[in-house]
Amino acid sequence: MESSPKKKLILLGATGSIGGSTLRVLREHSDRIELVGVAANSNHAELATICHEFKVPNAVLSDQSAYQAAEQAHSFPSETQLSCGETALLELCTLPEADIVLIAVVGACGLKPALTAIEAGKDIALANKELLVLGGAFVIEAAKRNHVRLLPTDSEHNAIFQCIEGHPREHLDKLILTASGGQFRDRAADTLADVTPEEATQHPNWSMGPKITVDSATMANKGLELIEAHWLFGLEPDRLEVVIHPQSIVHSFAQYIDGSILAQLCPPSMTFAIQHCLLYPDRASGTEKTLDFSEAMQLDFKAPDLDRYPCLLLAYEAMRTGGSSPAIYNAANEIAVERFLAKDIGYLEIPKVIAHTLQETDASAVDNLDALLAVDATARQIARNYGNDGNDGDVQHRTPNIES
Ligand SMILES: NC(=O)c1ccc[n+]([C@@H]2O[C@H](COP(=O)([O-])OP(=O)(O)OC[C@H]3O[C@@H](n4cnc5c(N)ncnc54)[C@H](OP(=O)(O)O)[C@@H]3O)[C@@H](O)[C@H]2O)c1
Repeated sequence: MESSPKKKLILLGATGSIGGSTLRVLREHSDRIELVGVAANSNHAELATICHEFKVPNAVLSDQSAYQAAEQAHSFPSETQLSCGETALLELCTLPEADIVLIAVVGACGLKPALTAIEAGKDIALANKELLVLGGAFVIEAAKRNHVRLLPTDSEHNAIFQCIEGHPREHLDKLILTASGGQFRDRAADTLADVTPEEATQHPNWSMGPKITVDSATMANKGLELIEAHWLFGLEPDRLEVVIHPQSIVHSFAQYIDGSILAQLCPPSMTFAIQHCLLYPDRASGTEKTLDFSEAMQLDFKAPDLDRYPCLLLAYEAMRTGGSSPAIYNAANEIAVERFLAKDIGYLEIPKVIAHTLQETDASAVDNLDALLAVDATARQIARNYGNDGNDGDVQHRTPNIES
């Protein structure tokens, strides 16, 4: 049989956790996927190592001083064209030879690269959830107009994608996203105020970047994923549910109108979802040990306690309010986590920052990207000022069960 041509991949966020898992898939399937471009923010040493190993012709560092350091150190191979800054990042996404762009940068900074790649006709493997929460309407419209595929790479959405493919959409009743419940799911509620950034960046099942690990603890991650699922699969909030599944083996469920439920299972490693997207619609052997049902295995499920996870409740509220609310939720959460990691606010203040910002920012719908980015900037400013502007009084109404 004639082998299909290699897919040419651009990997944004190559030095991160998803980036590392993607490189593992590429090592296994170097005959099928070729890395033609990589980007990172500031980790120039790691990016240079990747360019040497994978002979990458194009690389971008967003951070100017990291770029200068790399130039001085002559650390990149001479065959790699190294550039710097946002314009270079956007240009990378339009490389004529590329077929697919995997977006694994963290945060809303993924939105413009995603839209640029879509307008250039590239398929998108979407690990970054924040960009869809911020600009879902724009991304979905652009993808339809340009006939590009949005391949869900987040494990839950990849699971759902696999469970609903080939089924008439009118047969689908609801989607149930699984959640590990984070590292504090069994910790006494009255000790959560003392959670440190060091504790909040360790996850029992998944090895991930710091921001998503904190999001997993607060379940803001699941909130973002609900909004992501809304955009990717077109379901309204009342047909999107969350169930706690501590083992992270079942990655989500699709329930049909006759009551049948389909699930996708695999061990908790992102390589399964990444490989599925990069080889799609083909399949090949994976990089990891698969599940072995001859070994003892327990699968537990329970409904989340929304009092314990106010960030999840706030995400439902933002989704139901609509307009710019999801964008505000995302911006506030990004700043709250940044401030928590910098030890500027406590763990239990994260939902308070989100509630305050949702309350204080105009959530009217916007019809252009500049207006959306202005809402995002305003929300970030309000979230940064939380606790410093003496105007946080009403927050308790929105998050009644948060210990202070
Ligand atoms: N980790 C997971 O298992 C997982 C699972 C599902 C979904 N996701 C989603 O995937 C995304 C990435 O998560 P992660 O855990 O891999 O994050 P991470 O480990 O913190 O890595 C983030 C990556 O993005 C790069 N980056 C950040 N800002 C950038 C910018 N302005 N320009 C170019 N590159 C930039 C970083 O470069 P530097 O190294 O130079 O800072 C790094 O390569 C997030 O949206 C997350 O929610 C992650």
